[in-house]
Amino acid sequence: MRDLPKSEVYEQEFRYMPWGILIEKVLALIQREALRNGNVIDLMCGPGYLLGEIAKRRSDLSLEGIDIDPGFIRHAQEKYAGIAFQQADVLSWNSDRSYDVVLCTGGIHHLHYDQQIQFLERIPSLLTPNGFAIFADPYIDDFSMELERRQAAAKLGYEYMMATIRNGAPNEIVKAAVDILYNDVMGFEFKTSLRKLEPTFRRLFSEVEMNKTWPEFTSEFGDYYLVCRNAFH
Ligand SMILES: C[S@@+](CC[C@H](N)C(=O)[O-])C[C@H]1O[C@@H](n2cnc3c(N)ncnc32)[C@H](O)[C@@H]1O
Repeated sequence: MRDLPKSEVYEQEFRYMPWGILIEKVLALIQREALRNGNVIDLMCGPGYLLGEIAKRRSDLSLEGIDIDPGFIRHAQEKYAGIAFQQADVLSWNSDRSYDVVLCTGGIHHLHYDQQIQFLERIPSLLTPNGFAIFADPYIDDFSMELERRQAAAKLGYEYMMATIRNGAPNEIVKAAVDILYNDVMGFEFKTSLRKLEPTFRRLFSEVEMNKTWPEFTSEFGDYYLVCRNAFH
């Protein structure tokens, strides 16, 4: 896994990187559609920003966050009182509760390719019958060999960096965008194509709604969030 940016830089990224557009859409969806007095879990929650924003918009919801990084969890616990944060590995973490909303934003590409499906397979059993899961991630163009994967990662990374610079980002945020490109091209993180994961989403959930938030031009790569529901729905 790459060295993650400090919590403060991380939250600033939303203002300048295309990812911020996606996060706003996800927040609006939860604000609109989460069950009244329902519960929400954010898997791989990072420093807790998303849950903090959900708490401001929907004070009726009960919120939990899980992340493997102790620094992020400490930051989240200090900053967002009233939200239950726990340091755990999502691949081994277990819960006897079920959730009305399961969130995972920017998390899948942090898991090794052979763990991504294993992780997704755990989610349907965490959902209440009428619940939904949101999986948001940047995806690269489809690839079949390492050379193509690197090129696809470079393409996403370049466009991401250009958009961040165009948005007037300060140096440390531009550096974070450069780091994303570097980590993806070098294979320290595991961005994949939606074409590779779509069959898994469709196998596990009866409804899969795919939404692309960036870039505006036609492309296979980009930021997507998928809203997935169980067969009982
Ligand atoms: C790109 S960040 C996304 C954070 C947040 N969800 C967001 O949208 O900003 C990915 C997060 O996944 C966490 N992570 C990576 N592998 C994990 C694992 N196996 N279990 C729990 N968290 C993990 C990292 O610590 C990091 O905070």
